[in-house]
Amino acid sequence: MLKWILWIPALLVVSTMMGLPVGANSGDEHPDEDFSVSCRECHSVETPEVAKAWTEGMHGLVNVGCFICHGDGQEEFFVSPPSDLCMGCHSSYEVKFEKSDISSCFTCHNGHSLKFHE
Ligand code: HEC
Ligand code: HEC
Ligand code: HEC
Ligand code: HEC
Repeated sequence: MLKWILWIPALLVVSTMMGLPVGANSGDEHPDEDFSVSCRECHSVETPEVAKAWTEGMHGLVNVGCFICHGDGQEEFFVSPPSDLCMGCHSSYEVKFEKSDISSCFTCHNGHSLKFHE
């Protein structure tokens, strides 16, 4: 049994090197926290300014939750959410990033207030 447990990290390393998808394929890792608490509940204490900006913004109002951009924090986690996550709901705002210097929706929009950056 122990032998198999020791194999798991080795297999993960090998498949990552081969470019195979392994759960959290962004490579980002959330701090090890108690995920039975909701993102919002914990972050309203840990990062109150983030929680406040989200709550007061349009996504808070219509309940586009943290996980939509950042993942569930365990299987999947993005520190910097990719712009293609936006297109399912905002297809009319498609930007041809490859034709410009802009790299992401978040070059212009704050991730939480969604406001055009000052
Ligand atoms: C991470 C990519 C992403 C970006 C960038 C993004 N959204 Fe939204 N978003 C909404 C809804 C609903 C609104 C409010 C109505 C509207 O403006 O369409 C909104 C509003 C906005 C607004 C307008 C804010 C304002 O103050 O008027 C911006 C900017 C925005 N979203 C950016 C559903 C979504 C959904 C659907 C699950 C996803 C995914 C989503 N949004 C992903 C994203
Ligand atoms: C029980 C507490 C707790 C829960 C639950 C939690 N987080 Fe966090 N999160 C933290 C702490 C603590 C940090 C580190 C904050 C810092 O560095 O200031 C953090 C950091 C982050 C970061 C920034 C990471 C970075 O490297 O900059 C993001 C994004 C994030 N959390 C999203 C989420 C999402 C999405 C969820 C829900 C799926 C979630 N968190 C659930 C406590 C929590
Ligand atoms: C529309 C997408 C979107 C949603 C929804 C969203 N975030 Fe973010 N978040 C971002 C972006 C973009 C950044 C900036 C990433 C970077 O620095 O590249 C960010 C950064 C963060 C950070 C790092 C600290 C900071 O201010 O940069 C934390 C913590 C965080 N988010 C937590 C949350 C929590 C908690 C929620 C839900 C209440 C949430 N996010 C909802 C897009 C989002
Ligand atoms: C070059 C800067 C820029 C980029 C890149 C950008 N936006 Fe915007 N966007 C704006 C500006 C400016 C507005 C209108 C001003 C405002 O309301 O903040 C806007 C408005 C919006 C709105 C509607 C807000 C409203 O008032 O109804 C949505 C939704 C939106 N953008 C989504 C996106 C998404 C999704 C992406 C990425 C695919 C994106 N934007 C990329 C600058 C940008």
